[in-house]
Amino acid sequence: MKATLFTSLFSLATAPIASAAAVFYNVNSTDNLYELALDGAYAWTDPQFATIQSTCNATNVRMINAGLQDSIEAASFARQRLLEKGSNDDVYKKWFGDGSIYEVLGLISYLVEAEKSDISYRCDDVDGSCASHPTSWPGYDRESNDSETVICDLFYTSKKPLSTLCFDGTLVETGPKHYAGIDLLHRYLHTSKMSSDHYIAEYAEELPEILDYAQNNASFATRNVDSYLYYIAESYADAVIPGGCLGDVNNPPKSDD
Ligand SMILES: *[C@@H]1O[C@H](CO)[C@@H](O)[C@H](O)[C@H]1NC(C)=O
Ligand SMILES: *[C@@H]1O[C@H](CO)[C@@H](O)[C@H](O)[C@H]1NC(C)=O
Ligand SMILES: *[C@@H]1O[C@H](CO)[C@@H](O)[C@H](O)[C@H]1NC(C)=O
Ligand SMILES: *[C@@H]1O[C@H](CO)[C@@H](O)[C@H](O)[C@H]1NC(C)=O
Repeated sequence: MKATLFTSLFSLATAPIASAAAVFYNVNSTDNLYELALDGAYAWTDPQFATIQSTCNATNVRMINAGLQDSIEAASFARQRLLEKGSNDDVYKKWFGDGSIYEVLGLISYLVEAEKSDISYRCDDVDGSCASHPTSWPGYDRESNDSETVICDLFYTSKKPLSTLCFDGTLVETGPKHYAGIDLLHRYLHTSKMSSDHYIAEYAEELPEILDYAQNNASFATRNVDSYLYYIAESYADAVIPGGCLGDVNNPPKSDD
């Protein structure tokens, strides 16, 4: 079941539905990217969203929904790249090496379209971890129930809309989780349900190690959360901004949160 607020918010969108035929998004197009992700050529048939609990107020809900909108938009462009360019692609090889494209395509589709009504967001800092990590934790999955993701106020102030892509620095500089939509995709993977009991996990989080997994441990690159986040962010950036803004992977600053 779709989150009804999410759906109703966007049924109000007035932007024309895209009739995209191009393989890659043309930056001069006036198409609304979200419409493209939902209704256009890159559409998801039936994206599914986790429940937003009533502990989230109207402002929280709007910001979480905006992040979820971004997450399906980014994921749709990543899927499109996978389908168009396959695994014999520099971007694919950089993050997944010779890892299985079926696993990558499967996970990206699963992140968007798997049923999620039994996982939820809450905004009440029920375990107090937002309060005890005020400048470092944008959210957390509950130890007592990892189907519940707590969103901290730091999320709203630190995570950026995809519309700001490439503004605050390169993806290497900011990390992909700088963007709310991509951060939310990674939060799904902290749940047992969406990670298949941590089959997909954070094996490597630092850039040199992530790149090393692609080259030397590809069957785990396709099980590594951050490898997906970089692939999705780079695919999206490359599609919507000429040249993208990956940055120098061999010269990363200190890591994202
Ligand atoms: C976008 O429009 C500008 C100005 O007309 C043109 O120079 C540029 O090549 C176009 N870019 C693409 C990707 O079509
Ligand atoms: C909603 O909660 C946030 C804290 O998460 C608070 O900053 C904001 O003022 C609240 N908004 C409303 C409309 O109550
Ligand atoms: C865990 O969280 C989910 C999502 O909020 C909820 O449906 C479920 O009842 C919770 N499980 C327990 C044992 O509390
Ligand atoms: C690949 O990574 C996994 C998870 O860190 C590790 O258990 C395994 O030993 C690694 N395999 C190789 C060949 O390095």
